[in-house]
Amino acid sequence: MTSTATPARRRLAREPLAAVGFDPAAATAVVDPHPALHALRAQTPVAWSPTLGGWILTRYDDVRTVLMDYRRFSSDRMRPFFGHLDPARRATVAHLERYVTPWAVFNDPPVHTRVRTILNRTFIPRVEGMTPRIRAIVADLLAGLEGRADFDVIANFAYPLPAAVIMTMMGTPLADIASMRIWSDALAEFIGSGLLAPDKYARADAATAAMADYFAAMIAERRRAPRDDLLSDLMQPGDDGTRIADDELVATAILMLFAGHETTTNLVTNGLSELLRHPAQLALLRADAGLAPSTVEEVLRYQGPTAAMTRIVREDLELGGVPLRAGDRVYAMINAANRDPARFPDPDRFDIRRNPQGILTFGAGIHLCVGAPLARLEAQIALPALLARCPGLRALEPERDWHVSVVLRGLRRFRVATR
Ligand code: HEM
Repeated sequence: MTSTATPARRRLAREPLAAVGFDPAAATAVVDPHPALHALRAQTPVAWSPTLGGWILTRYDDVRTVLMDYRRFSSDRMRPFFGHLDPARRATVAHLERYVTPWAVFNDPPVHTRVRTILNRTFIPRVEGMTPRIRAIVADLLAGLEGRADFDVIANFAYPLPAAVIMTMMGTPLADIASMRIWSDALAEFIGSGLLAPDKYARADAATAAMADYFAAMIAERRRAPRDDLLSDLMQPGDDGTRIADDELVATAILMLFAGHETTTNLVTNGLSELLRHPAQLALLRADAGLAPSTVEEVLRYQGPTAAMTRIVREDLELGGVPLRAGDRVYAMINAANRDPARFPDPDRFDIRRNPQGILTFGAGIHLCVGAPLARLEAQIALPALLARCPGLRALEPERDWHVSVVLRGLRRFRVATR
């Protein structure tokens, strides 16, 4: 069943019901969105946001329901986005449309099922063997910081680590890490709704075109001579005959490269930032590196890299007693869900011994992050190693410089002193 009302009429009809002033770009919300999100959850847990043009969900149960229920909440949000552009505008983002639309994360079954089956078969078995390589990359990066009085955690550690890890897995030469950063940053502005970036579409389209050419050349090499890397594995048909189409292969390579580091960079940086803001917790971890796994879980809950995931409502339905219409956009506020007091008692307390269960930072259901074990492993190795190497580490800027984004939660830079 679909609604016949125009979006504008539907919006007007519901605004008195649940219009909210939550503005993710407001200075206070950028510094700390949680006071506003707590207030929203208490007053209007399913709230229409005119600013975002969608429903904001802040209750744990609602967010989890939306992520789990792919039949009623679609991930296929790129096709409608490109479909609604006028032809001239659409032509300027042709590369984005071609190579981002096939991403597993933007598809529902059956397209999602096929690509995800291929990812599960090829990517997951490679993660376990990565521990020694991750340790070596961390050791190299720390050696590069030797003698430095200060450094930027992102530029010198939290960005190059996951980028080198996923590039190694893919079989991409590490010499290309600087190009990867430029391309990924441009793509992040598009995917991550960089609210303040006016020409983000043109930049993201150019970056996608460059990445597609880059991977097409690597794929051609591997068609001639397969190697021991993820890109070669992705090209092989599975035992059940599942095979990835050519555009899907380039698209999936771009997705893995992109998803493999942007978020993990933010996990490591947010983790260090919170530890430095909570000296008693930092002291606990310094005294017992065995607390690394539960520290990472608490960082994922308390200041996780995923602020929100979006879905499109497939059919008219009710959520928390509020009518939603087919075609409506929904923002499942993951970080708000992870601070819902109904699920996590005393949610604004950062406690590395909490060991929270059921966090939604990696999503839930069929799209549950395929890279979660890798991201956890990287952060569990990186944080204690960095702290051990720099016993006097302290933040140089008292205020954190956050990206302005609805869906990503991460710092733009984070300068620290080593002594
Ligand atoms: C802290 C780090 C990470 C976070 C917080 C994170 C978060 C997420 C979330 C929330 C989703 C679900 C999206 C949705 O439901 O719409 C997702 C999916 C995905 N992630 Fe991650 N991710 C991280 C690291 C990684 C890494 C390291 C990789 C790969 C190397 C990766 C690859 C993917 C892929 C391919 C999907 C799509 C899965 C699907 O649609 O079936 N992620 N991630």
